[in-house]
Amino acid sequence: MCGIIAYLGLQDAVPILIDGLRRLEYRGYDSAGIAVQVDGITQCVRAIGPLSALQKKLSTIELAGNTGIGHTRWATHGSVTEANTHPQQSNDKKISIVHNGVIENFQSIREFLSVQGFQFQSETDTETLANLISYHYSKELESPTQDRFLESVRKALLHVRGTYGIAVLCSDRPNEIIGARNSSPLVLGMGKDEFFISSDVCSFAQHTRDVVYLHDNELVHITGDHFKLITLDREAVEAVRHEVDWDTASAELNGYPHFMLKEIFEQPQAIENALRGRISGDLSSAHFGGLQMTDEELHKINRIILCACGTAWCACLVAEYIIEKFARIPVEVEYASEFRYRNAPLDQQTLIIVISQSGETIDTLAAMREAQQRGLRVLAITNVVGSTIAREADGGIYQHSGPEIGVASTKAFTSQICISILLALHLGRLRDLSFDDGIEIVEALKKLPEQVESILLQSERIRSIAMRYKDCSDMLFLGRQSMFPIALEGALKLKEISYVHAEGYPAAEIKHGPMALITPQCPIFFLACDDHVLEKIQSNMHEVQARGARVIVVAQENSAIHANAANDIIFVPQGHSAVNPILATIPLQLFAYHMGVLRGHNVDRPRHLAKSVTVE
Ligand code: G6P
Repeated sequence: MCGIIAYLGLQDAVPILIDGLRRLEYRGYDSAGIAVQVDGITQCVRAIGPLSALQKKLSTIELAGNTGIGHTRWATHGSVTEANTHPQQSNDKKISIVHNGVIENFQSIREFLSVQGFQFQSETDTETLANLISYHYSKELESPTQDRFLESVRKALLHVRGTYGIAVLCSDRPNEIIGARNSSPLVLGMGKDEFFISSDVCSFAQHTRDVVYLHDNELVHITGDHFKLITLDREAVEAVRHEVDWDTASAELNGYPHFMLKEIFEQPQAIENALRGRISGDLSSAHFGGLQMTDEELHKINRIILCACGTAWCACLVAEYIIEKFARIPVEVEYASEFRYRNAPLDQQTLIIVISQSGETIDTLAAMREAQQRGLRVLAITNVVGSTIAREADGGIYQHSGPEIGVASTKAFTSQICISILLALHLGRLRDLSFDDGIEIVEALKKLPEQVESILLQSERIRSIAMRYKDCSDMLFLGRQSMFPIALEGALKLKEISYVHAEGYPAAEIKHGPMALITPQCPIFFLACDDHVLEKIQSNMHEVQARGARVIVVAQENSAIHANAANDIIFVPQGHSAVNPILATIPLQLFAYHMGVLRGHNVDRPRHLAKSVTVE
């Protein structure tokens, strides 16, 4: 949902800002812009469309300076026009700002500023903030010169309701940048003689890994070669420095045509990373370093609520089946956005677990804070180290999947399921799960990376299957038991990437409505990887085939389903029931990927979507 970057140092700011924006494009890609301080003037260049449009424009302009800000946009307020693109500037062009988030009370601020004579060129809430800072700047004549800029930003933010991660320039203060955050991520990077501010470390990690994460209601003021942190109430804040352990090389394509494909192929490694050091064969159990709960406390839990959004929510649904089956604890799954507002009855024996790849999704963060406010303990499964959810959770498990850049989540999803299996194993062994049953899960997990590798070898074949279906406009995905959430995820992936309308259903439910959709133009994917209900799913296949549906099946090798039982069949290795959801997912990811590419879409940046949704 928009990415911001700011640079102050000795190097030429433009290439650093552009490179940073390229790495942030996953957060928004409908327009981009930069502003650079040049001889006491802030020069601003903006373009709608992908970053290449901005680069093309810059190639015709002389723009050299050492201090600048940049933004890649995912529109929230106002349509995609150059006027709405960031940076936004105040009427007098003194203040330039890039913003990620939404200012909820921007209308009333705008009315106030209009009365003061301000005019607005854009429909954005951000331009309102630029002018509000400018308004305070003109009133701050009493402040010592060195504090005037900071005070005007601080005072403006005191009037703002909503979310923001911002970086601000003032043309009177050419060697300064101010950053501030409330509910939108912001991180300060400290290199040798240079500083960065960004929504995501990945935008500058090739320059420095020495970072400070800002908390809500904090501002950072960079002046030349040093910085200070304060709260909105002007309290000094001590900077807590972190060394980012982040393999920036993995944020490159490394020969793959798209990040999505690269990340699908990284799954064997991501699974190994999720498992590393967490399995105990001797105890037939799993263990984690960061749960911050004793076995006794875990034993007392009598209910788990899992909260997330998007693909992470589908991972929660898989976790529900797995935890209930192996740990015998009742589990409910909630959309984070619904949980937050619905006042569910909760008691102290309820454990909340949130799952979020980015650790920044605003609804998941808000659901977590709501549960904590009500005195509950929240564990977080997250990928991004140091993200807001990771920092604010009471305990957690990192996925260690490496950066996920493709907007459609792939390796993070299978890694989240892996961690759910480990958690179910740990909780199960604290309860009734036998040593032998635990060992079976441990062995299945150990085999998983190799099994996933073998499915990936079928990528070309899955591409040729996708060729046969690439012109369809609708598709159904059906599964039973733990394959039902995989059907949902398969449909979600296809929608996101190929724009084919797709729905996931529990297979038996097809008779209660979706069957009316069946035509040869609406193929049906069956996920037949659960032995326990295999016969049932075969009956469902016959029902739709009798009505003329084209059927694609994902089945296990050696399954009772024969190769000629469907129009197309993709076999995956025989696995334990705990890991089958992961094995069944891989062909669906590859199918969605190839469909998207064959239909000519930018699979890494699907239209209207963003990797990290930091607005409600
Ligand atoms: C966006 C992304 C999805 C992701 C969801 C939740 O919609 O496009 O791929 O699953 O947000 O993100 P999170 O970072 O919380 O897992």
